Amino acid sequence: MSDAGASDRPFAAGMYDYLLGGGANSPADRAAAERIRQVMPEAASVAWANRGFQQRAVRRMAGEWGIRQFLDLGAGLPTQRHTHEVAGPGCRVVYVDNDPRVVERGERLLTDVDGAAVVGADLCDPAAVLDHPRTRGLIDLDRPVGLLLVSVLQFVPDDDDPWGLVRRYMAALAPGSFLALSAPTGDRQAPRIVSGARKVYEATPTPVVARSREQVERFFAGLEVVPPYPGAEPAVTYVGVWGAEDPAAADDDASRWMYAGVARKPEEGPR
Ligand SMILES: C[S@@+](CC[C@H](N)C(=O)[O-])C[C@H]1O[C@@H](n2cnc3c(N)ncnc32)[C@H](O)[C@@H]1O
Repeated sequence: MSDAGASDRPFAAGMYDYLLGGGANSPADRAAAERIRQVMPEAASVAWANRGFQQRAVRRMAGEWGIRQFLDLGAGLPTQRHTHEVAGPGCRVVYVDNDPRVVERGERLLTDVDGAAVVGADLCDPAAVLDHPRTRGLIDLDRPVGLLLVSVLQFVPDDDDPWGLVRRYMAALAPGSFLALSAPTGDRQAPRIVSGARKVYEATPTPVVARSREQVERFFAGLEVVPPYPGAEPAVTYVGVWGAEDPAAADDDASRWMYAGVARKPEEGPR
């Protein structure tokens, strides 16, 4: 048994951890991830492409745009090279997740880490996240923040208005803040495969929704989308392509399971 704790139900965080080769997953997580792999053999490569996007986006926010504080919503189990390690010394990071196993493990891993903390909260409740004493203790909302919503809004159904949610978070952040977001899509996949993957998640507490390019682009409304790599137009791209050294080589089948983008809140940003 791993340190993920005993559960006969699979959880998104444990399934994802297993696909990334981590050790914080239960037998139920592993079985569900294997069922995903049966319908979607490239599932682990999709997870790695997404992790790569998160790391490249954080590196660019910290290195190129001087962002020193990050709010990582739906952070998952801090596996290799999590946000605080990529952002580097002097940066502050608040990880937020609603899975108690993630929070418990994160607290253990971050005990001796300065400037990083975990908050157990539902990201659908921005006040619970933004007003949490740990958030307030580490993040100065009057200064720019890097907001990460990486591979998590698929757990928020359309009826709960994830677009309004993103707007509310960005409205609470200072101008010059950045949003990095990735989201699964079925745009390039056979409907049979998308519905097979969706069925596996229906056995978890968090069913998923795949979104079209237009739906993902709407998350960036009112923000200045940045070019994903030198020479590109500002745009949402497939996840592996964003920030890739060789975008043509990164444009593979796994990458096309997710869209990703990064955008800056302008001086007159959404309020
Ligand atoms: C697929 S993992 C992504 C982890 C990380 N962001 C990444 O991309 O590498 C999704 C995470 O979001 C968390 N999550 C799902 N719904 C959430 C919600 N409403 N509030 C907070 N966390 C949530 C899950 O527990 C899980 O840890």
